[in-house]
Amino acid sequence: MTPKTTLYLAITVNGMIAKQNGHVDHVSKQSFAGYRRMIKRAGNVVVGRRTYEDMLEGGDLKGLHVEACVVSRKRFTAKEPFHAVTSPHRALAWLAKQGQTNVLVTGGAHIAASFMKAGLVDELYVDVEPTALGSGVNLFEGKDFEVKLKLLGTKKLSRDEVQLRYKVVK
Ligand SMILES: NC(=O)c1ccc[n+]([C@@H]2O[C@H](COP(=O)([O-])OP(=O)(O)OC[C@H]3O[C@@H](n4cnc5c(N)ncnc54)[C@H](OP(=O)(O)O)[C@@H]3O)[C@@H](O)[C@H]2O)c1
Repeated sequence: MTPKTTLYLAITVNGMIAKQNGHVDHVSKQSFAGYRRMIKRAGNVVVGRRTYEDMLEGGDLKGLHVEACVVSRKRFTAKEPFHAVTSPHRALAWLAKQGQTNVLVTGGAHIAASFMKAGLVDELYVDVEPTALGSGVNLFEGKDFEVKLKLLGTKKLSRDEVQLRYKVVK
């Protein structure tokens, strides 16, 4: 059975996930802590190859004993704890094989767009940071699609920050 898939990212008010130079230092501590909690709760995480490289540097999974999957078109042996696969479908198939029923995809923009375009996302969570950026990396990059969403709920993460939760209409 295909696992239920949630896409979760932190965005600026104008829908960007990173600065032009790739930095995400505008993302709040609350959002970062929530991201780690979401990964822990899901028991897994899926990322694109560029985000994987950032995560290795940042030690985002430190202390979290979860299944981790990196998607790249190239075949390579990923560094622990990651397992490399060559497509979003293969990521879900590999995680299903590991017994995972709820999969969490946390970016970046290209892998998020690939999952959306393939119709593989069931829920979308965005933490809206109190930041506007004149340029940067959009939430979705590299694929053209239109997906309708239904608001499931909102949560205030801090004085200036909200989380929006959507269901993808299929
Ligand atoms: N704000 C947030 O919540 C958040 C979360 C995550 C990341 N980020 C930021 O986002 C930026 C990275 O995003 P990005 O869009 O540049 O990169 P990305 O989505 O992390 O990775 C892109 C790579 O994923 C692989 N990929 C994408 N679609 C694929 C498909 N359909 N099949 C196989 N492989 C596929 C390709 O790897 P190959 O080139 O190896 O083939 C592609 O180059 C960083 O700055 C990071 O800090 C922000």
